[in-house]
Parts: sequence; structure tokens; C-alpha cells
Amino acid sequence: MRTDRPADLQAIIDEIHATLKSRFGEGKVADYIPQLARVDPKHFGMAVVMADGRVLRCGDADVAFSIQSISKVFTLTIALGKYGENVWKRVGREPSGSAFNSIVQLEHEGGIPRNPFINAGAITISDLILSGHTPKEEIGEILRFVRHLANDDDIHVDRDVARSEAATGNRNLALAHFMRSFGRLDHPVDYVLGVYFHQCAIAMSCAQLAHAGLYLACNGRNPLSGHTVVSEQRARRINAVMLTCGHYDGSGDFAYRVGLPGKSGVGGGILAIAPGRASIAVWSPGLNSNGNSALGSLALEMLAQRTGWSVFSG
Ligand code: DON
Repeated sequence: MRTDRPADLQAIIDEIHATLKSRFGEGKVADYIPQLARVDPKHFGMAVVMADGRVLRCGDADVAFSIQSISKVFTLTIALGKYGENVWKRVGREPSGSAFNSIVQLEHEGGIPRNPFINAGAITISDLILSGHTPKEEIGEILRFVRHLANDDDIHVDRDVARSEAATGNRNLALAHFMRSFGRLDHPVDYVLGVYFHQCAIAMSCAQLAHAGLYLACNGRNPLSGHTVVSEQRARRINAVMLTCGHYDGSGDFAYRVGLPGKSGVGGGILAIAPGRASIAVWSPGLNSNGNSALGSLALEMLAQRTGWSVFSG
């Protein structure tokens, strides 16, 4: 079945919510960032923003959460806007097959991260977009961009999360120093990580996030605001990187089960794109062993099955 009818879709997401309800709280909330460990694991929300502007919601769709690595989609978009294809001289676009915070490939590959979504790659992107700015200015630019995408000024950086991550960010410090030792970062490590930690600490609801991702579902143009964010080709390419790399070493499994470009964050959110149809955000804080939302992935699998939205459907 393929459906874009709003009544059907609302029934589908209500049914997914009801089916998963007894399992809310499953998975393991990220606790390596202490501020994230405080989040109630039983939250669950989903929002679907259709290409024609209809918005469907269930559960905690309007509760803000830490978007974490989902921010990497937006900073990649900014970097491609500033540097075009030159971005790919600094990061690859191949799946890593490794954990999001892995350091192992970096030495073999001369300090060039596999893709912009693993931590090393996203830190490199933060370094790129920082050029010509202070960290504070760049954090402001990222926040303004996300507000513009979501058409919502009520989006903020959660400073407690940013501080909490900075205080415990030894792995990211190691990754950044390692890349700087290869001459692969242009700015001091504390500047680059200042940007990176704050982008990860942006708090958004599923509804805001799904609005922000709509340009990727609509050939680069946000049909609600009328703004062209990126070209059609670039939107397609960002979706391709999301599909192949958006869930780290769980990317193959996500493509197999859901069949949509997606990007997860350790806050338990996932942004998924059904090209030509909808932008979808789901939030359930409990993670699976790859650091991706356990029930969020399952909810998207159910949605893709019930709507026929997989990019691999004929
Ligand atoms: O760098 C970190 O560890 C976090 N700020 C972001 C990691 C993340 O969201 C990985 N995603 N599943």
C-alpha cells in the first residue's frame, strides 16, 4: 500500500504509538553525557511534515530534546554552501562500519574521516565552517540556519548539555587532537569543539526537526517558506550520505529495515526523509547497541512498511 492521505497517515502514526506504548523506555539512554542521562526514557514522539505542509503528530511531538548528531546534517549543508564540492577534500563519503566515535580508521587514513556524520568527520566540518568566524559567531550562524529551516525562532542551544558534553568530551578531544596532529584541522581544538558541542546541544522538538528537514524531501526547497536551501542535486546527495552513513555501523540495518535516508542522534532522535513525500522526526531516548534510537528505528520501520515510502519501493 502507498498512502499520502492525511486521515490514513494520522491513523498509521496513532497505531504505531499505541503498538509501541508498552515498550516505551526500551533501550539504553546515553549516559556518557551526564545531562542526557537525566532525560525520562519513556518519552516518545513522532512528527510527519508532508510536502504540501500538512503536519501529523503523535505523543511528545512538541517536546524539545537534544538533537545531538542530527545537527551534522545541517552543518554539512552549511559547509557545502560555503565550499561546494571542496568539502570532500576534507572528509570522505563512505560508510565507516565503525562506531560513531571511533578513532581506529583515522590513523590508517591520514586523519581524513570517512564521512561527515561520524564524530571525526563532523568535527572536521565544524572546523571548515568556523573559518573567518569566532566560535561564538559560528554557533550563532548554525542556530540561525536551523531556525530559518524550521521557520521557528523558538529554537535554542541547551547550554547545560553543551557544558556537560565539554566536561566529559575526552573522546572528542582525542579525535580532534589526533586530526590536528595530522595537520587536518585549521583551528585550535577548543575552538572547533566549542562549535561542535554547541551544535549538538541544540534542542528541538520532532515537529521543529521535521520542518527543518523538509528541504531534503522537496528537492532542496522548503515549500512552506518558499526558500530554496540547496540545489536539487545537492539535496539528493545529502540524502545519499544520510542513507549510507547516517546510522554509523547500523546504517546497513537501517537501510534494510526502513529504506529511507536518516540521521540519528544519541539524544534518541532520528530525522528521516521520504523524498518527494515527507520529512519525519521521531524521538525515543533509549538507544540500541549502535547508539541509535531503538524504538525510533522501529517506529520508522513500521511507518515505511505501512506507507510504502521506502526509497526502494517500485
Ligand atoms: O560527540 C558526541 O558524542 C555527541 N555530541 C554526538 C554523538 C551522537 O549523537 C552520535 N549519534 N548517534
